[in-house]
Amino acid sequence: MPEPRFFSLEDQVAVVTGGAQGIGEGIARRLAKAGGHVAVCDINEAAAQAVAKEIGGVGIACDVASGASVGAAVADVRRRLGPIDIVVNNAGIAGKTAVLWELEEKDLDAVYAVNLKGVFLMCRAVVGEMLERGYGRIVNVASIAGKEGNPSLIPYSSTKAGVIALTKALAKEVAGKGDITVNSISPAVIQTPILDGIPKPTVDYMLSKIPMGRTGRVEEVAALVHYLVSREASFTTGQCYDISGGRATY
Ligand SMILES: NC(=O)c1ccc[n+]([C@@H]2O[C@H](COP(=O)([O-])OP(=O)(O)OC[C@H]3O[C@@H](n4cnc5c(N)ncnc54)[C@H](O)[C@@H]3O)[C@@H](O)[C@H]2O)c1
Repeated sequence: MPEPRFFSLEDQVAVVTGGAQGIGEGIARRLAKAGGHVAVCDINEAAAQAVAKEIGGVGIACDVASGASVGAAVADVRRRLGPIDIVVNNAGIAGKTAVLWELEEKDLDAVYAVNLKGVFLMCRAVVGEMLERGYGRIVNVASIAGKEGNPSLIPYSSTKAGVIALTKALAKEVAGKGDITVNSISPAVIQTPILDGIPKPTVDYMLSKIPMGRTGRVEEVAALVHYLVSREASFTTGQCYDISGGRATY
């Protein structure tokens, strides 16, 4: 008898939003290595296809802020790969960095559309089928900012708090209706291109709060997500997993 492969994702279909670069790319690569058939869904179609090509997956254009785009992308994934077992809602933007009284209404709307509405739309597009099949794993990428509130990042911080709450509520809605789990993760500063859009003093502030005194690595986040989307992670739902180098001990 061959040894069972722990945390294998063989024959499972995984959607990773924002999978064209940064944390999402790292997650897509890791899930593919574990045997998953990965759909790299990103607003940047060319980059999504480039990553997908390298990992033997499919690259799909998807703007998570648009219900029509999410619906079309999900239909495309089902047609090309089959029913969806795993969704990682990772697409996100930092938005404008400024104190509240210097922000305009459109600054808030832009971040909400991607970071919070995007998670709602993708969950809504896949959860019906997960309930029918009695299986699913959803991981939503929140942030330490959603637990603590980072100054100059109110739109971002509040969407991430919303993602944590959405996760808890959806987890309870599907609990006991098959083997479906919904969890979130809250990374602190991870070395990716998103940091290029945040002023250095804000990044330094965030770094100064991390007891391990360093940024996190994409591979470290991908390892945590891999566990959470595995079949083995079947009795844990509605949680927000910290990956912050000790910044949050709650
Ligand atoms: N890097 C960090 O320090 C950090 C910390 C905590 C949480 N996060 C979260 O992790 C996730 C990934 O962040 P990252 O650092 O890899 O960012 P990134 O900017 O490197 O990558 C984000 C990806 O999302 C895609 N994207 C943006 N808008 C989209 C849309 N409307 N529809 C589909 N795709 C879209 C981009 O094209 C890009 O490929 C985000 O949700 C972010 O908020 C990041």
